[in-house]
Amino acid sequence: MSVNAHHWWQEAVIYQVYPRSFQDSNGDGVGDLPGLIRRLDYLRRLGVDAIWLSPVYRSPQEDNGYDISDYQDIDPMFGSLADMDRLIAEARLRGIRIIMDLVLNHTSDRHRWFQEALKGRDNPYHDFYIWRDGQPGQPPNDMRACFGGSAWQWVPQLQQYYFHQFAVAQPDLNWDNPAVREALYDMIRWWMKRGVGGFRLDVIDQIAKDPDLGITNNGPRLHELIREMNQATFGNGDYVTVGETWGATPQIARLFSQPDGSEFSMVFQFEHIGLDQKPGGQKWDLAPLDLVRLKQVLSGWQRQLYGCGWNSLFWNNHDLPRIVSRWGSDKPAYREVSAKMLATLLYGFQGTPYIYQGEELGMTNAYLSLEDCRDIESLNLYRERLEEGYAPADILRSIQARGRDNARTPMQWDDSPQAGFSSGEPWIKVNPNYSYINAAAQVDDPDSVFCYYQKLINLRKQETTLIDGSYTLLAESDPDLFMYVREWDSEQILTVVNFHAQERPQFLPEHWKQANCLIHNYPGPVGETLRPFEAFMLKHW
Ligand code: GLC
Repeated sequence: MSVNAHHWWQEAVIYQVYPRSFQDSNGDGVGDLPGLIRRLDYLRRLGVDAIWLSPVYRSPQEDNGYDISDYQDIDPMFGSLADMDRLIAEARLRGIRIIMDLVLNHTSDRHRWFQEALKGRDNPYHDFYIWRDGQPGQPPNDMRACFGGSAWQWVPQLQQYYFHQFAVAQPDLNWDNPAVREALYDMIRWWMKRGVGGFRLDVIDQIAKDPDLGITNNGPRLHELIREMNQATFGNGDYVTVGETWGATPQIARLFSQPDGSEFSMVFQFEHIGLDQKPGGQKWDLAPLDLVRLKQVLSGWQRQLYGCGWNSLFWNNHDLPRIVSRWGSDKPAYREVSAKMLATLLYGFQGTPYIYQGEELGMTNAYLSLEDCRDIESLNLYRERLEEGYAPADILRSIQARGRDNARTPMQWDDSPQAGFSSGEPWIKVNPNYSYINAAAQVDDPDSVFCYYQKLINLRKQETTLIDGSYTLLAESDPDLFMYVREWDSEQILTVVNFHAQERPQFLPEHWKQANCLIHNYPGPVGETLRPFEAFMLKHW
């Protein structure tokens, strides 16, 4: 077996913690850093190498921390800088690195820079943001913000509009101003000195926007700016960096993740995530998933980044509904097998897998009522669509299928009140299925979803083919089966999944019938008929 030199993050599995919903330690109903520290042994047991921590900086929490008012402090709700240092140190003792979430496209309107900017056009911080002169009620153009409404907000005392791609309270930073970039790079270097292992860069392909031309993602100077940031900061060390890029195609992702390390380690690409929405619509406009299309898209990413870029592998994050409810089945009969099927499919690919908290337990969507929803995006959507004449039941159906709160209900630790998340009243309702879907019930059960993830993580440490192997899709037009082969030296690993709940005759090529089974989501051998959501990996050499 030939040896390929790897970066640590190419062999790593990364776990995303959404801190406000992970573990509360002081009974205020919000997760915090001391709570997370208490759960590090759980994460070590799972086998992950790094934690991507969603924002814990000081923030008014209009968008759950993605609206930052001080990048160099921890919000008291989550703890203190001393807790953060302790987290970094305690994680390191367990071989786990901490990845910070950098929100560089915008700040909170409470950030000192914006407060200064509001003081006058001559204030040195005014040019940290994007302003246009105008008249009240006549925004510079009709650009819309991602959370609804106009992307322009009128400020009477300045007689100007500022630009915001997200909430009104999240003004966009002006990356054309070198002083903005220097201030951000300083802050990044400050976190590097504190000993973090890398960064996830929030909506990073939106920093080079041109609001006059209506450009949001992939602005003309984007890659130039990223290279500059790379050289000024994380390019000088062994960090993992992952950009959130809703606008990336495989061609663009090749630039972002080129092996010379001049931009990022990898990006989060979302092409697969949009496959179950109506063409031309938004994520709220539900449509069934076509497996053949999913195969084309995921295979395209595998092929087009092979040897010249690097993929991230994910089904979930804090912005997406739970995958088992979305593309598996959360009915009791199939929840576990389908959660394992989806994991098998993902862990056979080339790239760095990401687990979103609770995914390793097969946690499901929460299907909250409107009163229980907390997310600004869903609440704004409800208001907007109601005005546009949508039926309330239809809007709620969309929110229950796609709303971000589905992923944000508390982590289900055990079957005690509030799922062991908090001794107080959680900021968002616990999913009532915690009584049987919880960590305590799974960690010692070899057949659990948790132990299946543990096995998959181990496999990625043992099988070089999973890290380096080439990719070949089989049965391209089969509407139920997703099958592909990875190949490295003379070794092959075949991943087969039945993506649906119907039984299916299987048609393994002859030479695979003698192969070793690496992992299988049903007991016993692979038979002539594939059972609902059956999945396995075979190895041949
Ligand atoms: C990213 C984050 C999301 C946030 C948005 C604005 O998409 O993942 O949670 O609302 O950026 O910062």
